[in-house]
Amino acid sequence: MRMYDLIQKKKAGAELTREEIDWMVQGYTKGDIPDYQMSAMTMAICFTGMNERETGDLTLSMRDSGDTVDLSSISGIKVDKHSTGGVGDKTSIALLPLVSSLGVKLAKMSGRGLGHTGGTIDKLEAIPGFKTDMSMEAFIAQVNDIGMAIMGQTADLAPADKKLYALRDVTATVDQMSLIASSIMSKKLAAGADAIVLDVKSGSGAFMKEFDDAKALAEAMVKIGKHAGKNCRAVITNMDEPLGRAVGNAIEVREAIDTLKGKGPEDFTKLVLALGSRMVLCAGLAADLKDAEDKLKTAISDGSALAQLKRFISAQGGDPSVADDTDKLKLAEGVMELKADRDGYVQRIICDEVGICSLMLGGGREKKSDEIDPSVGIYLYKKVGDEVKAGDVMAVLYHNDKDKGNAALERLKAAYHIGDERISPKEMILDEVD
Ligand code: URA
Repeated sequence: MRMYDLIQKKKAGAELTREEIDWMVQGYTKGDIPDYQMSAMTMAICFTGMNERETGDLTLSMRDSGDTVDLSSISGIKVDKHSTGGVGDKTSIALLPLVSSLGVKLAKMSGRGLGHTGGTIDKLEAIPGFKTDMSMEAFIAQVNDIGMAIMGQTADLAPADKKLYALRDVTATVDQMSLIASSIMSKKLAAGADAIVLDVKSGSGAFMKEFDDAKALAEAMVKIGKHAGKNCRAVITNMDEPLGRAVGNAIEVREAIDTLKGKGPEDFTKLVLALGSRMVLCAGLAADLKDAEDKLKTAISDGSALAQLKRFISAQGGDPSVADDTDKLKLAEGVMELKADRDGYVQRIICDEVGICSLMLGGGREKKSDEIDPSVGIYLYKKVGDEVKAGDVMAVLYHNDKDKGNAALERLKAAYHIGDERISPKEMILDEVD
């Protein structure tokens, strides 16, 4: 086979066979196919697309390009969860201990943040002592012991995707549905769970700005999951404003802990219960969604979810007392307030701008090698639909550098839109694919 011929074929809009896709993915992973040919191929895919069969084959080829995790020594149905990422998305930190407190087995690999969205691993590392790098043996032993573990994604998991994603990122070929769906699902399938619940975000802070695109991505990923024999479902959720009120690292862990105490923001709590009830159902531990949600609410009110969070933090070397005293999750001492300059209603908060403000404060990374400051962040006192009076504090910003704080404050100010009419915030759960 020659890569030149495959590029020509895709450019003409023809279908690639399973053998051709396997050959291409293996050749690229090994370094036999150069970046310039692979980038021509990804651009051809952007213009002519891939059908369902090709997308499924690309996913399986990328899954098989490295290690696949064998979770068979863990009894019960193993459930995984994936979010396409957004601003203030601390979901896994509350959701996984909650779901696990009902007996669902969770062996989750998570990523670090890049750009305006944060990553679960960075957020967890805001807990003093918490470790996310562990051997596969320790990871599986922890799930057998306490029911859950979260570790950083290993380099050997779907290496073809890692290489291809880095190439797409610099060749303007990220935003193609088949490429995104196969990229996400290759890692999920390699991670070995029996069931996968996907949280596909839609809105200004999400990868998919338009609802129709988010729905198409959800459908593509669910099809791939089912084709690979997994119980897979997706929820399409709102990311038109930040999730909850906290954006940063330590500050988001505080909010996740409060949620497990029943004191979380309404939108975030809704999301956690929606995803959680689907995970519990996938694990066969509830009769229906209502039953699953009731069980989750009980686990919050009787303290079992919080107790499981403490077990999880301890097992990974962290200080579990942060769950009782969230002030131990230190916030930066510099504080700036964003005040409303007029009366009215918050009509819009440009979501990715809030993520960029957190990044500017040092809460995220622009390039992979950047260090994160866990103590900086933003707390949104006012969200879409809230009434404000001139002078009201709409948001507070925690910083360790006045110049960065001032620059972020200016940007945050521009992200808030106040008008005369009250706008109802969008529903958290927009749709579902199963
Ligand atoms: N996240 C991924 O893992 N892959 C993509 O292609 C896009 C988002």
